[in-house]
Amino acid sequence: MSALPPKQRVRDSFDRAASSYDAAAVVQREVCARLLDRLAEAAAPARIADTAAFDLSAAPRILDAGCGTGYGARLLRERWPRAQITAADFAPAMLALARRHADRCLAADIEALPLPDGAFDLWWSSLSIQWCDAAAVFAEAARVLRPGGRLAVSTLAPGTFGELRAAFAGVDRYRHTIAFSEPESVGTALSAAGFRTVELRRATIAVHYPDLKALLRAVKAIGANAVGDGARSGMMGRAAWQAVQAAYESRRTAAGLPATYDVLLCTAEK
Ligand SMILES: C[S@@+](CC[C@H](N)C(=O)[O-])C[C@H]1O[C@@H](n2cnc3c(N)ncnc32)[C@H](O)[C@@H]1O
Repeated sequence: MSALPPKQRVRDSFDRAASSYDAAAVVQREVCARLLDRLAEAAAPARIADTAAFDLSAAPRILDAGCGTGYGARLLRERWPRAQITAADFAPAMLALARRHADRCLAADIEALPLPDGAFDLWWSSLSIQWCDAAAVFAEAARVLRPGGRLAVSTLAPGTFGELRAAFAGVDRYRHTIAFSEPESVGTALSAAGFRTVELRRATIAVHYPDLKALLRAVKAIGANAVGDGARSGMMGRAAWQAVQAAYESRRTAAGLPATYDVLLCTAEK
């Protein structure tokens, strides 16, 4: 059984969601902001051995890998106005929206980039690699970064959507989320790709929705609804749906129904 949905299916879901993405991507924006703070902290001149290796005051060549509609590229541009930003994504409708925030857009799979070796000072990716083979993505990141270049990546860890899986667990045996990687395996994959000074930080972000339908709609609106092998193929029966709703309702707080994002913020140096 494959742990990830087929690439074409992931690409189609994100492509379809491009026009609804920005309005729904509240957590994604928060994660981009946190990743940028982590990068600035990790790359502070006092903390790196060779300060000339990554001069943030210059015009860094940045790759935003899995750029979506370009929110990360926009933040990076605000922080480093002279940056040369390349935005890459395999969903054409996402890429079309990212165009406003990047110097160059590239329709490409971030597991196999049509880019030369050593072409970037910073490889950035926020909430995209959970859909990919991390080893392939990090090998490509290491290849396209110059020696001394930096990596900043956010992804999701196994606690993500735990409430949703628990609500369905008593009702059916289908898969309802993708399999999220353990932080240790992300760290190991980064080291295996040749990165050093790998730092991982874990953060919990809790979002609240008025009801379960609103939660599922929000996931679909950002295109994150492909779950891979083991997903339900037909409609859910009325009784089963009511049972899931009741199970989730038992977690309701004054703010609404909670959904946890277990976020991993990683920085490293080539
Ligand atoms: C949840 S969105 C995140 C977008 C953006 N980084 C942000 O923070 O808003 C994930 C993006 O990764 C892209 N993506 C997923 N797998 C990819 C792959 N193998 N190659 C290129 N893009 C990929 C999707 O098309 C989608 O636009």
